[in-house]
Amino acid sequence: MTFSNIFSTTTLANGVKMPWFGLGVYKIQEGDNMLSLLHHAMELGYRSFDTASLYQNEAGLGKAIQTSIIPREELFITSKVWNTDQGYEETLAAFDASMERLGLEYLDLYLIHWPVPHQYKNTWRALEKLYSEQRVRAIGVSNFHIHHLQDVMRDSNLKPMVNQVEYHPKLTQVELRSFCKQENIQLEAWSPLMRGRLQNNPTLNQIAQNHNKTIAQVILRWDLQNEVITIPKTSHELRLKENADIYDFVLTDKEMEIIQALNENQRTGKDPDNFQF
Ligand SMILES: NC(=O)c1ccc[n+]([C@@H]2O[C@H](COP(=O)([O-])OP(=O)(O)OC[C@H]3O[C@@H](n4cnc5c(N)ncnc54)[C@H](OP(=O)(O)O)[C@@H]3O)[C@@H](O)[C@H]2O)c1
Repeated sequence: MTFSNIFSTTTLANGVKMPWFGLGVYKIQEGDNMLSLLHHAMELGYRSFDTASLYQNEAGLGKAIQTSIIPREELFITSKVWNTDQGYEETLAAFDASMERLGLEYLDLYLIHWPVPHQYKNTWRALEKLYSEQRVRAIGVSNFHIHHLQDVMRDSNLKPMVNQVEYHPKLTQVELRSFCKQENIQLEAWSPLMRGRLQNNPTLNQIAQNHNKTIAQVILRWDLQNEVITIPKTSHELRLKENADIYDFVLTDKEMEIIQALNENQRTGKDPDNFQF
């Protein structure tokens, strides 16, 4: 696997290329700051942007895309169907509403945000329809445990191409990662920086010093070397640059193991099996 620069991509099960690295835009509010932040990100080489109807900033992302000099086909845009919109017809309508806000003709990746019980399989059928109509280039899920993936795969034509889950050194998702690898489902990390809570971790700090890098850079490099797509969020231009500056060093096998050993199965978000949908 090569991660030579910010433009490096992985190939999903259907052949579509998706950047290993991107920007998550949760909690980035629409407005002038969002526009200039996203344009700055694009200038730095960011091509992948992760939003969701829940984030209430699809229109802001759409505006940044429409006013950017980067051609649409060079960008990779992800959105997600929210829990209260799940079900077959509801998902089709939610997709139309997201596309209207984004102002796009097609989406690159559409995800089921959470596995809402008794609904997510109907939602998946809607995603399959959108995919067959070429309105979206790839479809996937988010916050799915192995049993949710198995359930969807049992009676569907298409496997999810991506599973986006909480993933960081305190939640290394060993079984899920290996299951996804075996099934050719690309794992993607949300809250890769554990929302800033690893900034004072002494083990990560030591590894960062070994390479003259920051803790954030070490974690994001660890994602890449584990073949996990990563989408750190920041509202600061300097951190946009810092987070993307992870292509000039390599963590040793020993360092990878040390980071892996920090796992405590600790979540910042909800466990998908214990969510008040
Ligand atoms: N599918 C899902 O259910 C789900 C759930 C959560 C998130 N997501 C996606 O994943 C993306 C990332 O997750 P996240 O936003 O929850 O958390 P995150 O990326 O782990 O962390 C973001 C936090 O870390 C700070 N930060 C960023 N870069 C930093 C750096 N270099 N040094 C120190 N602090 C830094 C940010 O602060 P500043 O902004 O002030 O820099 C922000 O407070 C989201 O934006 C969203 O797209 C998906």
